[in-house]
Amino acid sequence: MIFRQLFDPLSSTYTYLLGCEHSRQAILIDAVYPAWERDLNLVHELGLKLAYTLETHIHADHITSALKLRQETGSRIVFPQQSAALCPDLTVSDNTPFIVGDISIHPLYTPGHTDDHYSYRIGDRVLTGDALLIDGCGRTDFQNGDAATLYHSIHNTLFSLPDETLVYPGHDYNQRHASCIQQERKRNPRVGNNRTERDFIALMTNLDLAYPKFIDHAVPGNKKCGLCPDHLPENLEKYCGQMTESPQG
Ligand SMILES: [Fe+2]
Repeated sequence: MIFRQLFDPLSSTYTYLLGCEHSRQAILIDAVYPAWERDLNLVHELGLKLAYTLETHIHADHITSALKLRQETGSRIVFPQQSAALCPDLTVSDNTPFIVGDISIHPLYTPGHTDDHYSYRIGDRVLTGDALLIDGCGRTDFQNGDAATLYHSIHNTLFSLPDETLVYPGHDYNQRHASCIQQERKRNPRVGNNRTERDFIALMTNLDLAYPKFIDHAVPGNKKCGLCPDHLPENLEKYCGQMTESPQG
């Protein structure tokens, strides 16, 4: 399997490119709008054809490039079954593998950050989206998030994967790229080291985080599979612009 981790510096999002060496089909997971051309160029450089885009959840911090990539390539848009999106070509549901050539993607329903959130296990890796981050986890105060639900998703679903499973998060703000289940279970300061559900709920309730600056535009745009709003305030225009640099994570 061809595997690449790509980075969007604006929202510190990781996009994952998976490619089947035999069928030459590719899938982009959590692709970000300003980076659509960089991502597509890489697909082509690797001799692949973009077949699908897939989301871990409806994002609040960036616009997905799913719609743009469908317009450019005919790729099919895949969202979680629980997402309130009316536009996807296909949906994924819990424990029903999504197949791309020789690649088998196992969707794991991991709500709590949002009520539509999925992680995706591919062999000995798991893409954890915003449910489990390296030494952290996603916030639970918007989009029907719920701390108790996230605690159970992490402990019952993600922490029950084999210790050596590699964790690839949906974001990182400190240039870290990957971790493993054992490391997060042992030392994740929010949810690891045997932290109790009650402590976790208290911690998440008292985080006192700022209101997400792009959420009011991103969520409606992503429910339309990546439609950029017509009139963005000037300070937010870059979210629907073009990537100027090309860091690849
Ligand atoms: Fe998120």
